[in-house]
Amino acid sequence: MTLPSRESTDLQAFSADPYTTMQRLYLENGAISQLGTGPMRFWLTLGAEACEFILANNHLFSWEQAFAALAPLTGPAALLVNDGDRHRRLRRLVTPAFTVRRVADHLETVTRHVETAMAGWAPGDVIDVYVPLRRALRLATLESLFGAAAMDRSEGLDDWLHDIHRAIDTDVLGGAIERGSGSPVWRRALLARSSVHRWVVAEIERRDRSEPGSDVLGVLLRGVDGDRLTVDEITDQLVSLLEAGAETTAAQLSWMLYCTMRERALWADIRAVVSNPVALDRIVSETMRLHPATAVISRKVATEFTLAGQRFCPGDLLLFSPFHTHRVPSVWPEPERFDPRRWDPGAERYRRPAPYEFLPFGVGTHRCVGANFAVMAVKAAFAALVGRVDGELLTTDARPAGLIGMHPRDGITVRITEKR
Ligand code: HEM
Repeated sequence: MTLPSRESTDLQAFSADPYTTMQRLYLENGAISQLGTGPMRFWLTLGAEACEFILANNHLFSWEQAFAALAPLTGPAALLVNDGDRHRRLRRLVTPAFTVRRVADHLETVTRHVETAMAGWAPGDVIDVYVPLRRALRLATLESLFGAAAMDRSEGLDDWLHDIHRAIDTDVLGGAIERGSGSPVWRRALLARSSVHRWVVAEIERRDRSEPGSDVLGVLLRGVDGDRLTVDEITDQLVSLLEAGAETTAAQLSWMLYCTMRERALWADIRAVVSNPVALDRIVSETMRLHPATAVISRKVATEFTLAGQRFCPGDLLLFSPFHTHRVPSVWPEPERFDPRRWDPGAERYRRPAPYEFLPFGVGTHRCVGANFAVMAVKAAFAALVGRVDGELLTTDARPAGLIGMHPRDGITVRITEKR
């Protein structure tokens, strides 16, 4: 009988629990660990130095290759599956929809959907708030992208998006953990993708191009300096914006509730905090440090290089992790502790993190294009909740699940004590 190799055992451990496995492997092996063998092989590249190397050397990696397996779901023109000049052009045309000023226009939309989600809550109710809040943020993202009128025509969309997200999250290693194409999850997602595609094309066709509107679709239709996206390109952007935006933001919001409600002192003081934008920013940063919704990011090697004594060749798949980096004790003292004061420049142990030490949205050319929207949405939703509801947190030890949309596996259960 042959024993399974260490690489296979570590792969199994990572598949079952990537979060603690990353931390264990970093302690055992340092920056580099190989997981799996043959076509299943990939590398964990962990720690601030590895992140710095990867992020400072974009030219060594290819997104197109890393995410090629996802292209049937995201569409070939999605930002995430493009490199070089094509990526630069697409990014130039998408970015104007997500400036700080533009995303502020969607604050009321987020607030309204969260208020609707809370409408039926009453003192004494025990609720897993993650479920209604995830739905509220999906609807808010949908409305911000397509406008209020599209909401009445959006039946089915929520389920389709959920199917797509499930496939992308299980296929985060480009098919290394679970070979995508044959699985029922993948087949379901492909069907969902074509339904979403048809829905988005119909929405584009409804628009009056001379007055495209101020939602994201309107901004994309308008173009920049005479350059315009084609209908297929717009469709791919919108499908992937919906997919990338809603689950991550909902996950981030529920971690924020969990962290703040656990800290009774902070929660007791929360109303003052919500009307204090600086304090609110620190809570957002600290939540994203401890529970970044995107727990790992992958890269495919395009050009040979050596990192921490290990030679990497074209085609090798690397994973680095905001989740892990944000918990390295040499960078973040008492990393497991939720402490928004560590973001206060006046505090004794304040240390401004380098970009590769705090990277919830990634860094560089592929940095999250929706970051401003995400921060606005999380803050607006949190303020709406805290302004109306008080509660007792019943979830005592929330375990994470998911890698691209890392969320509380068993939800966040709250007993409502007060509703205004
Ligand atoms: C808390 C919420 C969010 C988190 C933690 C997050 C995280 C990230 C990260 C880490 C990346 C970089 C991936 C890489 O380097 O390979 C990324 C890219 C991206 N994100 Fe987000 N994201 C969030 C919300 C959003 C929202 C709200 C949208 C849009 C509405 C969005 C759209 C995108 C897109 C399109 C990309 C690809 C950008 C490119 O390749 O140029 N994300 N996101």
